[in-house]
Amino acid sequence: MSGNSFGKKFKITCFGESHGRCIGVVIDGCPPGLPLSLKEVQRELDKRRPGQDKISTPRKEEDEVKFLSGVFKEHTTGAPLCMLIWNKKVDSEVYEEYRIKPRPGHADYPALVKYKKFNDYRGGGRFSGRITAACVMAGAIAKKLLRTLNLEILAHTVEIGGVKSEKNPTLEEIRKITYTNAVRCADEKIAVLMKQEIMKAKNEGDSVGGIIECVVLNVPVGIGEPVFDNLDADIAKMLFSIPAVKGVEFGAGFNSSRIRGSENNDPYIIKDGKVATASNNAGGVLGGLSNGMPIIFRIAFKPTPSISKKQHTIDIEKMTETTIEVKGKHDPCVVPRAVPIVEAAAAIVLVDHALRFSLINTGEKIE
Ligand SMILES: Cc1cc2nc3c(=O)[nH]c(=O)nc-3n(C[C@H](O)[C@H](O)[C@H](O)COP(=O)(O)O)c2cc1C
Repeated sequence: MSGNSFGKKFKITCFGESHGRCIGVVIDGCPPGLPLSLKEVQRELDKRRPGQDKISTPRKEEDEVKFLSGVFKEHTTGAPLCMLIWNKKVDSEVYEEYRIKPRPGHADYPALVKYKKFNDYRGGGRFSGRITAACVMAGAIAKKLLRTLNLEILAHTVEIGGVKSEKNPTLEEIRKITYTNAVRCADEKIAVLMKQEIMKAKNEGDSVGGIIECVVLNVPVGIGEPVFDNLDADIAKMLFSIPAVKGVEFGAGFNSSRIRGSENNDPYIIKDGKVATASNNAGGVLGGLSNGMPIIFRIAFKPTPSISKKQHTIDIEKMTETTIEVKGKHDPCVVPRAVPIVEAAAAIVLVDHALRFSLINTGEKIE
């Protein structure tokens, strides 16, 4: 398997399988001198941990982070920083069935063919949502480095199973409300309806998808390396590494194809003595470079593939058609748990580009 590393200056390599010994990440390129405690990484990991509410899987994942290298006297050393969580209490038995009868919507079938049946299929192996714990651990470090630039990343759920708010929440609402409810929505009333939608699907042995919006504030102008390392391209690539992501749009996104140039262009203005734009249809990126406006993107997640409802599939050994009812403990909607993952993904890309642009101070200057 290749394709497990991302980034040029802040290079992450993730490892581990869902029901293997551990899930971990190595960061090569983290500057020295960043004060860092386990607690800070744990705080981020706890946001994605399942079993905190009825709408997520009842799987118990303790996810207690350990530093293996790169941290000494509560500061990063500049050496490769390795973090991991040990996998505990796994129940792999049901996955024997999915090896032969691939789950529709999951990666069982293409993985079996590509890895010639040698892949660790337990718990979905490398294709499990659990793999995203590596992203969250690395994201915790990235977020901390970005704080030295005053950058702020705010993700929140805007739609679940078609239930969405009609009004745009303010930044203050996103900051204050998102993590106070189980669906991670900045509109408390809509959060209740979203939760009901998830429970309805769950009770019917089904699942739902949804949309997360992410806003990045205080981004300096000029981050991004065109042509192939465009900022939006790198963010999209990182977001598509999150399992169940099916779409990403920046700013006006797909709707920009339906309006005229005169409506879509963001007019330049001077605001508080600085260059800004009156609207933000570009979503903060022009020509693959940050333009100083908030970077705004939305991510569409599909419904969780593992559902207990009867579905059509095949028996790969007998080469016959059959049915499957997926057992085990699954998230009826991955969206709420993906909110901190989206924030982490954005942070990893932005810190990599900020380091490439020599924006982040190292050593004693990091507070
Ligand atoms: C946080 C998170 C949790 C997930 N939990 C589950 C789950 O419990 N059951 C499941 O079938 N898929 C789950 N998924 C989605 C699958 O991992 C994903 O759909 C599968 O690997 C196929 O990849 P694709 O949907 O990107 O094509 C989860 C995804 C995320 C981000």
